[in-house]
Amino acid sequence: MNPMERFLKAAQGNTVDRAPVWLMRQAGRYLPEYQAIRAQHDFLTMCKTPKLAAEISLQPWRRFGMDAVIFFCDILIPAEAMGIPLAFSEKGPKLGPLPATTAAVRSLRMPKFSADIPFVGETLSRLRDEIAGGAALIGFSGAPWTLATYCLAGGSTGNRAAVKEILHTAPDVLHALLDKLTDMTIAYLNYQIASGAQVVQVFDSWAGQLTADEYHELAFPYVKRIFQEVTGVPRILFCQKSAHLVHPMMLSGADVVSIGEDTAISEARTFGKVIQGNLSPELLRDGPIETIVETTRTMLRAGGNTGYIANLGHGVLKETPVTHVQAFVETVQSSHDLI
Ligand code: CP3
Repeated sequence: MNPMERFLKAAQGNTVDRAPVWLMRQAGRYLPEYQAIRAQHDFLTMCKTPKLAAEISLQPWRRFGMDAVIFFCDILIPAEAMGIPLAFSEKGPKLGPLPATTAAVRSLRMPKFSADIPFVGETLSRLRDEIAGGAALIGFSGAPWTLATYCLAGGSTGNRAAVKEILHTAPDVLHALLDKLTDMTIAYLNYQIASGAQVVQVFDSWAGQLTADEYHELAFPYVKRIFQEVTGVPRILFCQKSAHLVHPMMLSGADVVSIGEDTAISEARTFGKVIQGNLSPELLRDGPIETIVETTRTMLRAGGNTGYIANLGHGVLKETPVTHVQAFVETVQSSHDLI
C-alpha cells in the first residue's frame, strides 16, 4: 500500500494493511544531518528559508521512510507574525512577553499569511512536489491555550502558575487573547491546507497542566471552534500529559486523538475515534532495542490496522540514538504479521 494512502485512510478510520507511522519531532536534533545544517544556521533562519525547511523536513523520511512528513517550522512563528517579538536561545524560545492588558491584546495584528510568512506556504508546496505522493504531508499549529501561555509567560519559563493567575485577575483579557489566537489559528491552518498540507495537527502541549475543569474553560471551547472551522482534511489533537483530558479531547471535533503513555490504547479506542501514539519518548531514548521492539509490538497489537497511527506519546528527545528510531519505525513497517 502507498504510504500516503495508508496514512490518510488510517486517519479517516479506514482499514489499512498495517498502522502508518511517524514521530513528533522527527525532524530535529537527534539526527546528525539536522545537526550539520544547524551548525551553519540559526533555528529561525532554518524555519524561514523554504529550501532549508523542506530539506530538514525530508531528512527523517529519506532515512527511515515514515508514512508522513511534518513540515519543519515552530508553533511560535505565527505569534511573531502577530507582532510579538520572538527569539530562540540555548534555553529555548523567548516570546514577548505580552502584557496582560486589553490594549496589548488589541494591538496584536491578524497576519496575512501569504504576505507576512510566505515561507510557510512555500515550504509546504515545495514538499508536496518533492514527496510526490510518497508520504502524507502534515501541517500544524499550536493550540490557543499553549500559545497564550508562551505569549504571557514570555517563553518556556515553567511559570504557568502566573498565567493561571491572570485567569483570576483579568479573565476577560485572557479570553480575549484566546479568542484572537483562535481566529489566527483557523486562518493559519486553512492557509497551510491551501498550500498543500494533507493533514493538520494542533499541539496543545501545555493543556495537560490544566485541571479538567480549567481545560473546559480555557482550552476546550477554543480547539472545538478550530475543528469546526478547519475542515476537509484529517485533524489531529495532541496534548501532553493528557490522561485526565482524554474524554473532552474525544469531544473536541478532532478526527484523531494523540495519547501519551499515560493512557492505554485499549481504553482510548472505546470512544470510536482514531488514536495516535503512544510509545514513551524516554523508552525510545533509553532502550534497549529489544524492549523498544517488544513494547512497539504490544502497542501495535492494541492499535490494530483500523483507526490507529503509530507514534510516540510526545516528541523525539534530542539524545535519542538514531538506531532506536530506526528500530521503532522498522518494527511498525514489518508488522503485517500482527494483524
Ligand atoms: O519534526 C517536527 O515535529 C516538526 C518541527 C517542530 C518543531 N517544533 C521544531 C523544533 C514542531 C512541530 C514543533 C512544535 C513545537 N514547538 C511545540 C509543540 C510540540 C511539543 O514539543 O510539545 C512547542 C511547545 C514548541 C516550542 C519550542 N520550540 C520549544 C519549547 C523549543 C525548545 C525546546 C526543544 O524542545 O527543543 C523549540 C525549539 C525547536 N523546535 C527545535 C526544533 C527542531 C530545536 C531547535 C534547535 O535546533 O536548537
